[in-house]
Amino acid sequence: MSYQQELNASKNNPEDFWKEKSEALEWFKSPQKVLTQDEHGIHHWFADGEMNTAYMALDYHVENGRADQAALIYDSPVTDTKKTYTYRELRDEVAQTAGMLKDLGVGKGDRVIVYMPMIPQAAVAMLACARIGAIHSVVFGGFAAPELALRIDDAKPKVILSASCGVEIKRIIEYKPLIDNAIKIAEHTPKNVVVYQRPEATSELSQEGDLDWVKVVSKAQPVQCTPVKGSDLLYILYTSGTTGKPKGVVRENGGHAVAMKYSMDAIYDMNPGEVFWSASDVGWVVGHSYIVYAPLLQGCTTVFFEGKPIMTPDAGAFWRVVSEYKVKALFTAPTAFRAIKKEDPKGESIKQYDLSSLETLFAAGERLDPPTYEWLNEQFKLPVIDHWWQTETGWAISANMRGIEKMPVKPGSSTVPVPGFDVHILDDNGQEVAANQQGNIAIKLPLPPSCLTSVWGDLNRFKASYLETFPGFYVSGDGGYIDDDGYLFVMGRTDDVINVSGHRLSTGEMEEIIATHPAVAECAVIGRSDELKGQMPLGFAILKSGVETDQADIKRALVQLMRDKIGAVACYKDTVIVERLPKTRSGKILRKTLRQLVDGEDYVIPSTIDDPAILDEIQQAL
Ligand code: COA
Ligand code: AMP
Repeated sequence: MSYQQELNASKNNPEDFWKEKSEALEWFKSPQKVLTQDEHGIHHWFADGEMNTAYMALDYHVENGRADQAALIYDSPVTDTKKTYTYRELRDEVAQTAGMLKDLGVGKGDRVIVYMPMIPQAAVAMLACARIGAIHSVVFGGFAAPELALRIDDAKPKVILSASCGVEIKRIIEYKPLIDNAIKIAEHTPKNVVVYQRPEATSELSQEGDLDWVKVVSKAQPVQCTPVKGSDLLYILYTSGTTGKPKGVVRENGGHAVAMKYSMDAIYDMNPGEVFWSASDVGWVVGHSYIVYAPLLQGCTTVFFEGKPIMTPDAGAFWRVVSEYKVKALFTAPTAFRAIKKEDPKGESIKQYDLSSLETLFAAGERLDPPTYEWLNEQFKLPVIDHWWQTETGWAISANMRGIEKMPVKPGSSTVPVPGFDVHILDDNGQEVAANQQGNIAIKLPLPPSCLTSVWGDLNRFKASYLETFPGFYVSGDGGYIDDDGYLFVMGRTDDVINVSGHRLSTGEMEEIIATHPAVAECAVIGRSDELKGQMPLGFAILKSGVETDQADIKRALVQLMRDKIGAVACYKDTVIVERLPKTRSGKILRKTLRQLVDGEDYVIPSTIDDPAILDEIQQAL
């Protein structure tokens, strides 16, 4: 089948199309209703099917000839550890950990926060929740205590699963003090905090409800998979919106499993038994989908890497892993490739390894910029595939469908819409624009399987954020255009979300934090272009009159505030102190103009600007 035929099939009869895809998985009870709409008008896929994601990802393979195949390979250059888990070993560990959760009173529908570094127990934790129908919410280990507290209050977990520390290049980050602090800040108190003690740091388990992971798991009995409905939730994953309150993207079991499996065939061209490596972190959606769930649902081997593209120990780290485990497809963020390119521009380390297993490089998380694309292409002479997606969808909206038809690559484009996603470019009035014209990227409803069906606990926010801007469409928050050949070019966010090292952050949230500093009267944060990290936040602050504190001290305090409130991952390093900010006559800060000015781009002075002279003042302050 060609891409066009597959796309047509998905559009002409979506229910038949997805019903057929769902048959590739082992359901306890096959779904009879493929697509339904609830009383709020929201679509759900496979709502009445009965299944268990952990069963499909582990037990099914153990029972069907893959028991002794490697399921997960843990490789940790930061701790000098390597360990392989077969499907049987992983299933058994998950079943026993699920038993522990059950002993702690966790059941179907209960939430469990997983705040862990990149160790295999993080995957075990996620799958153990799935096994008993509990809903996991993984919180990226780099987030500071207040971010964790926000998620604790929103998800109200019964239990937090964690580890004693994360190992970064320059330091060990102890998790338990962060958790204790988060629980202190939060209103909700989980019943238990279960800590996996790592040799690099030992947590003091002195609070009520603290438990040692190994000790409690050793007392537990393995449990079987609890059947859930296709529309029951598998997980909540928080992502940055335009305000300080992150959005809890919810993912349903049925649609997720079907989309994950389909994507491994159709996008990544991966067969069972082959080795897939997504170099990301389980704290992000890429980690959920392509470190844990999709490779296992497909019967592949997944590489679980606790390291960085550089400095662990050098720019050859990725190539060492590819050659050691015979990785067929490598997926990472462009920023990681840029870091390698910067350290090793001539690709000397690439030549040191046998990379003959590698067939394709995939990039996502931010646009794969053409210079990085060209460099990769030159070094590898392999297809380098950019594909565009979001936490909200859980999988690619546009991609080069390598398992269906290997389409020519156009640098700067994430190729074509994935079957199931009906992508349109709309102007601000919701009218379709012509080819090659930029606009808002929107997806006609219904969204395909795996996409969010709500924001946890806040259906109105889901509707307001995504469905109400253009009735009948999901608005992605990204802008871009489709060219004459139907190729999609995603050019950047149209809202206050920025992308730093492939990490999605909210400038709105950063502004809320800066505004809490007693010397600050008003502020704005924008994402400025950065050669390595894609974007870096830059703050502008107007000080309150009469403030006599040294400006350098204020700037330092703001950096520290951001590290304490969001975490070091915010990469907040610079503030420009100004007298005024450019605004419209109605008082709205012209952030887009500020960003264009900082990046040295040509810009049109908005006709609504209150006083154009402010732009010169800003230019001088930079
Ligand atoms: N826990 C705690 N802190 C973390 C962390 C984690 N899991 N991840 C990052 N940090 C910290 C870093 O230690 C650093 O702290 P510092 O300011 O004290 O040095 C800070 O957050 C910024 O980290 P990062 O943006 O990752 O920069 P870096 O200079 O340490 O590394 C790269 C640069 C390019 C190597 C790195 O950003 C990278 O590997 N990026 C790929 C990202 C990725 O895979 N994204 C997934 C989305 S698909
Ligand atoms: P996240 O939800 O963290 O995965 O971030 C999603 C956002 O990252 C998208 O809305 C885009 O702004 C950006 N993004 C992800 N992949 C790409 C890509 N291939 N091209 C352009 N932008 C991307």
